[in-house]
Amino acid sequence: MNIVILAAGQGKRMRSTLPKVLHPIAGKPMLGWVLDTASALDPKANVVVVVGHGSSQVESYLNSISSAAQIVVQKEQKGTGHAVLQAVPALRSDDQTLILYGDVPLISASTLQKLALLAQQGSLGLLTEFMDDPTGYGRIVRNADTTVAAIVEEKDASPELRAIREVNTGLMIAPTATLKTWLSGLSANNAQQEYYLTDIIEMAVRDGVPVITTQAQYSWETAGVNSKKQLADLECAWQNHLAQALLEQGVTVMDPHRIDIRGELSCEEDVTIDVGCIFIGRVQLARGVHIGPYCVIQDAVIGESVTVEAFSHIQEATIGARSKIGPYARLRPGAQLGEDVHIGNFVEVKKTTIDDGSKANHLAYLGDAQIGKGVNVGAGTITCNYDGANKHLTIIEDGAFIGSDTQLVAPVRVGKNATLGAGTTLTKDAPENQLTVTRVKQTSLHWQRPVKTKK
Ligand code: UD1
Ligand code: CA
Repeated sequence: MNIVILAAGQGKRMRSTLPKVLHPIAGKPMLGWVLDTASALDPKANVVVVVGHGSSQVESYLNSISSAAQIVVQKEQKGTGHAVLQAVPALRSDDQTLILYGDVPLISASTLQKLALLAQQGSLGLLTEFMDDPTGYGRIVRNADTTVAAIVEEKDASPELRAIREVNTGLMIAPTATLKTWLSGLSANNAQQEYYLTDIIEMAVRDGVPVITTQAQYSWETAGVNSKKQLADLECAWQNHLAQALLEQGVTVMDPHRIDIRGELSCEEDVTIDVGCIFIGRVQLARGVHIGPYCVIQDAVIGESVTVEAFSHIQEATIGARSKIGPYARLRPGAQLGEDVHIGNFVEVKKTTIDDGSKANHLAYLGDAQIGKGVNVGAGTITCNYDGANKHLTIIEDGAFIGSDTQLVAPVRVGKNATLGAGTTLTKDAPENQLTVTRVKQTSLHWQRPVKTKK
């Protein structure tokens, strides 16, 4: 099918230099949501995005996600009908054309699927919505026999028509060849002097083409975003939907109003998530995982019965079963922890593997390191991995004990079961089984403290 995404509007009410359709919902630009839904609906669809205001920014976004969508520029915004008309040369005539809005981000593939199925065999499918307050929307005018007669825009509607609560969501599907004919017949004789796409409804009725309506499963699917308020409301509705889904699935979400999922969160049985956590990208929580309050977790795989305590920040990391992380831990990209690993407060781990049963409980930086099994990393340990130009590897073998306040000047290796005395600055490899210590000999002197001079 052809899918036209209208995204040329200015979005004045967003009061932003960023084009409206690039504002994110749950971490993804609104246009990205619509594109993803389009390809979920029909991976082979011919997708055309109509851009106008901020077109160069929209184009660079499409390039950044390597979108296969065609871009059509609508230089002046003369209405929704005019916008679709710009896309006409890019459409395959022998197919249906689905019209979506770049600022109606959360429409689901299943609702669109339903619309497309209803609208087969030459009819026009229209997604409508019943609203308590229909202000601003085009009203669906029906005949006595309930068939659709027309869509009348608010600004052109009489008080009687304005009382109609069924509104046009703007999303519709029509056979492309007929759509093309209708579009070429549009005029701008209306209150806004615009080419209204909605005028094709009356043309369909005139031509005896059945107009079929259906509604989305959830009202937020068809909600449009024109302001930061509407953006926040839609974000809230979506987060609430995701939180309810987690609860239904058996996840203990301590407060469903205080969780944010910006991507895909998958949870096995008996997962608990305390308040204020943000999940970004793909996050997997295995059975029995406990996430404490105010953690930020991005693209991570967290194993069975792991506990992540409050205020931990985890990004592109894997954590083995029964490990204990935090509070205040930071796992950066490439942190790969085995089972029963402990990473405590103010410990930063980057591009480092830590094998089963090893511990770094307090105040450490472990970067570009390979740490074996059963290693104890003392407080204040730092891998000096960077010489100002290049990064170097630190290897700590199984069973090593790294005394507090040790600097490991990489590249360097600590042998199996080696002990490093507290305060060691290790610049050469430490042999296995031995105590290595670099330390100034301790001396004690008789010493008089200075006293404050009286004025
Ligand atoms: C439109 C519908 C109205 C419907 C409402 C739902 C028409 C005439 N009216 O009204 O029936 O209830 O949507 O939200 O279709 N756009 C362009 N180029 C243009 C004009 C608009 O690309 O020249 C895009 C906008 O970026 C937006 C969409 O089309 O994504 C809708 O435009 P908007 O101005 O918000 O339409 P409404 O007047 O609200
Ligand atoms: Ca408008």
